[in-house]
Amino acid sequence: VKRIGVLTSGGDAPGMNAAIRAVTRVATNIGIEVYGIYDGYRGMVEGKIQPLTRRDVSDILDRGGTMLGSARLPEFKSLEVREKAVEQLKKFGIEAVVVIGGDGSYRGALALTEMGINCIGLPGTIDNDISSTDETIGFNTALTTIVDAVDKLRDTSSSHHRCSVVEVMGNRCGDLALFAGISTGAEIVITSETGFDEGEVLDRLREFDVVKKKNHALVIISEKITDVEVFARKVSQHTGFSGRATILGHVQRGGSPVPADRILASRMGEKAVDLLMQGIGGQCVGTQSGNIVGVPIEEALNMPAKSRKELQNLFDRLV
Ligand code: F6P
Repeated sequence: VKRIGVLTSGGDAPGMNAAIRAVTRVATNIGIEVYGIYDGYRGMVEGKIQPLTRRDVSDILDRGGTMLGSARLPEFKSLEVREKAVEQLKKFGIEAVVVIGGDGSYRGALALTEMGINCIGLPGTIDNDISSTDETIGFNTALTTIVDAVDKLRDTSSSHHRCSVVEVMGNRCGDLALFAGISTGAEIVITSETGFDEGEVLDRLREFDVVKKKNHALVIISEKITDVEVFARKVSQHTGFSGRATILGHVQRGGSPVPADRILASRMGEKAVDLLMQGIGGQCVGTQSGNIVGVPIEEALNMPAKSRKELQNLFDRLV
């Protein structure tokens, strides 16, 4: 392999730049040329491709977002669209590609590998919803952002005897909510795993107020479960707390990556290059018990979601 491409795809995540830098530096240091593919698979199809030198990836390690831009391209499922992409890669002499993104991006990487372009996936998403890795690039930074926000909400909630209902991202994975709940000492965490029984949550809030005499209550809830504005109004109507909703939104996706994400991204970028140099494609990189591993994408996509029973129990025992 003489020339590889790198792209970021799907929702961006802090640490993607660190991964791009690692891929570029590790590869160029062994004489492999690296090309940046801009705006994900869309840019691949459109030929938005340019060489990346080691200088091009200077000063990006600490930056959020992705210097390559990112996009979602559902049309990449179509063979015709992928054929156009392969044509472009051939035009630029790109023999293999590192794809940094979530599980949707992995599917594209697998399909390209099956068309003769070896691809390696790196888990770049704040959601931590990829079963083949203990942690995804960006998760720890997003978690830090959430914890910082919730700590602040706790201060003002205590002053006003309020219940803050905080909606966090996660795209159906409850990790951001649960990990933030443990980190902030929230009263209640609601995820797709815990389920949501509105009446029961209101009962518990009344108990925190009347029996436990709490000054505030923090409820952290995963997105896509309920309308938090409506729920916060019900808290005001049916409990002694006044409810306030905060939707953290895309602020969770930005910011300078925490060191753990910079290190994870650097290790994973290195592994991606090493796998490609061994002629391996169709794998994704993950950490398992602290070790960096390559896992066949097909296997990774079929793995069951990680069980969070133990952490959920811990949360319950800490309340
Ligand atoms: O996958 C990352 C993520 O931020 C999810 O947590 C969220 O559901 C989704 O992307 C939001 O997507 P968009 O940025 O397209 O609104």
